Amino acid sequence: MRVLVLGSGGREHALAWKLAQSPKLTKLFIAPGNPGCEEVGECVDLDLCNIPAVVRWAKLNGIDLVVPGPEAILVEGIVDAVREAGIRAFGPTKSAAELEKSKIFAKNLMRHHGIPTADYAVFERHEDAKNYLDSREDGPVVVKADGLAAGKGAIVCKNLAEANAAIDRCMLSSEFGDAGSRVVIEECLRGEELSVLALTDGKTIAPLASSQDHKAIYEGDTGPNTGGMGAYSPAPLMTPKLMDSVISKVLVPTVHAMNADGRRFRGVLYAGIMVTGAGPKVLEYNVRFGDPETQPLMMRLDSDLLELMVAVCDGKLADQEIKWKDDPAVCVVMSSAGYPGKYKKGDAISGLAEANALPNAHVFHAGTSKKKDTILTSGGRVLGVTALGKDIPAAIKNAYAAVDLVSFDGAYFRKDIAQKALSRL
Ligand code: AMP
Ligand code: GLY
Repeated sequence: MRVLVLGSGGREHALAWKLAQSPKLTKLFIAPGNPGCEEVGECVDLDLCNIPAVVRWAKLNGIDLVVPGPEAILVEGIVDAVREAGIRAFGPTKSAAELEKSKIFAKNLMRHHGIPTADYAVFERHEDAKNYLDSREDGPVVVKADGLAAGKGAIVCKNLAEANAAIDRCMLSSEFGDAGSRVVIEECLRGEELSVLALTDGKTIAPLASSQDHKAIYEGDTGPNTGGMGAYSPAPLMTPKLMDSVISKVLVPTVHAMNADGRRFRGVLYAGIMVTGAGPKVLEYNVRFGDPETQPLMMRLDSDLLELMVAVCDGKLADQEIKWKDDPAVCVVMSSAGYPGKYKKGDAISGLAEANALPNAHVFHAGTSKKKDTILTSGGRVLGVTALGKDIPAAIKNAYAAVDLVSFDGAYFRKDIAQKALSRL
């Protein structure tokens, strides 16, 4: 099969790396990809904003399966367009991608179907949001821009003064553009977060191994949120009992609710879960693989990813069994100085070959570019250094041994990735 992966981050490198191992693969393209993707396939310079051009290219090049990575193209309807051209596309249609595109849609769906989530109210007018805050007792709340905001649209506020400022950022200064013109104000949940990803063809739901992300920039989960500074799998917090509860209270009702709404969901359903004293509650849905969760997940996946993706597209997921390596995996993200704020680009990266030569380690590229034979930094999150180990402490040790071999000017990484898991072993 000829496969086209769309995207250029660490998630796409990890998906491409795993797809490249499939005996069913004859040719792998990644558009636009990154220098890491070139190790496993051919990078093609396509503009993903131009969906008709992507579809034309896929048709001309005899592509059998298109795998879109980022949410932006899913909500723009890449899957609908690729399918109309008679090519398989792994992911939700535009109408099913609404689950990530609109937090209001997602919250209302959860409310109507009894799916556990934080209590909330929706506002379309600045004045109404302010009046609502005035009517509340002071305390923490979360203000969320309704639309896509590159992971920055959820503002956790310690008190009502911060919440008022967050409302102004969304609805007055339009910091998130149209995405912030409507907001959700919700109860602040306490607990530990888990990422639950599941493949689904709209009938069968096959959860992937559990994982946990580290969203804050600094150690101890402090500082502003980022796209994710590291991840590990499996997460010991996810007991079999908790997984059963997430399946029965979240995954199954969500897939049913989407069907009932005429928005059959196919692809990866990602539920961000807060494990609270009152059980698991949904923080958000994503309609694609997580980044950086995908990096450790792909290193642990023993099954053929291409076969699984085709089964999802063809509505035959029930015939598949997903197998995992027992060994845990840990991914440490190395970022540019200044990220998630303004950061510098264009610094040479050294030690990649040495890190990749370590047994059980792999360096997934995210924000990199290539000039002659030198790999340069070109984004906020630069690399996802990932390693397997016989247990979580060993995987941590292996990942950081690989990190120690890689360097670039101003490289930053958290030193406590997966530490939270240790207290539960
Ligand atoms: P979201 O974009 O909705 O996933 O939110 C991003 C991050 O904000 C989550 O990963 C949580 O760390 C935090 N967050 C979102 N909603 C809540 C909530 N209701 N209570 C506490 N933290 C939250
Ligand atoms: N790791 C968080 C996300 O992919 O949204």
